[in-house]
Amino acid sequence: MLATKVGGISFDCCVYNASGPKTNSIEALIKIGNTAAGAILSKSATLNAQDGNELPRFINKIDLGGNYCNGSMNSEGLPNQGIDYYINDEALSQIKKCNKPYIVSLSGLTLNDNLEMLKRIFNRPLDNINGIELNLACPNIVNKPVIAYDFDQLDEVLNEVSKLINSVKKKTPILGIKLAPYFDPSHFKKAIEIIIKYSVVKYIVTTNTIGNAMFIDAELECAAIAPRNGLGGLGGGYIKHTALANVYMLYKELVSNGRTDIDIVGVGGVHSGLDAFELILCGAKAAQLGTCHWTENGDCFKRVASELKQIMQNKGYNSIEDFRGKLKPYMKGSKQISKMSTTSNPKIQDGKSKSLLFIILPIILIIALIICPYISIDFAGLQNHYLLRIVKNN
Ligand SMILES: Cc1cc2nc3c(=O)[nH]c(=O)nc-3n(C[C@H](O)[C@H](O)[C@H](O)COP(=O)(O)O)c2cc1C
Repeated sequence: MLATKVGGISFDCCVYNASGPKTNSIEALIKIGNTAAGAILSKSATLNAQDGNELPRFINKIDLGGNYCNGSMNSEGLPNQGIDYYINDEALSQIKKCNKPYIVSLSGLTLNDNLEMLKRIFNRPLDNINGIELNLACPNIVNKPVIAYDFDQLDEVLNEVSKLINSVKKKTPILGIKLAPYFDPSHFKKAIEIIIKYSVVKYIVTTNTIGNAMFIDAELECAAIAPRNGLGGLGGGYIKHTALANVYMLYKELVSNGRTDIDIVGVGGVHSGLDAFELILCGAKAAQLGTCHWTENGDCFKRVASELKQIMQNKGYNSIEDFRGKLKPYMKGSKQISKMSTTSNPKIQDGKSKSLLFIILPIILIIALIICPYISIDFAGLQNHYLLRIVKNN
């Protein structure tokens, strides 16, 4: 029911992990392999291992007291073990045992680093690496602007990557690119205009964190994390609606260019089956979990997948293709999201209890009206009693 294909790679389940949280080591990736996640996606690798930015560099729901809409902020600066660690023989053979597609995320510090990492992947046994997610959107590298925001650079990177892939004589892993969130309609248009020039790009992952946010410790009057003057990338519940809009707008652009052969994977603020359902309605073929995976561990994949399944069953859908990309324009009454029956989203549950109140209150009123004639209350007696007490007190 939740099976999908991303860029031609078959997933048993359309819910899987985002690159970053709990993906740094092979042990962590195998843990993901033993969950309900539909695929295993590595931490973004750089050419050489690196420690990332100074600590502390991450804030999540737990640090925030649990009530900040499951949000997160990080300025990790790509701590990782270097590309060779994620694609060596031992790693590949262990990951293969999990029987799920393995996707390696790359985030080179330069174009040459990205090309070198790609060459190293192409030299590996390629049946063990199903996909490559080229991250063009990391907002947390000191002195490195986000490639996805610089359209000339985006074009240049895709051109060079394309040339390299086309020069390889054997079948290479499927290429996806990860984008940063866009905020202006002209940017969705421009990004797609560039991406569709390169046939090697089979899918788009949107979105990385919203860069350069800030949390402040008002008591100490200081920034809440150490790197980059306290600036970090916003994730989790804070960005769900930006992620929805990015999936929707990019999907629309692809459709209007006749390029539905390029798939979209949605990421940003997914914490429930309903969140995943909404991303798929906007056009996504799969949903990744980042912050949620960090705070809830590997069980989140099973929970979110079974919530999504329940929603689909309630609506009579047999596969995600039954509703994918079929978001309708506004309709009268469309705010009644509380009617959704299966979700762990606290806001929706809140809505549910409100609608329950609307049902229960009238019932109580009707019962009260029916039994009223059988109960006699001595109103005059009560009045006298209170009047006497008032006189006494004075
Ligand atoms: C601690 C942390 C580390 C991350 N590291 C990476 C990374 O290495 N590569 C990448 O493409 N995205 C990285 N991200 C971004 C996530 O993959 C994801 O795009 C973003 O957090 C939004 O998803 P979420 O709301 O589910 O967290 C990281 C996010 C977090 C919170």
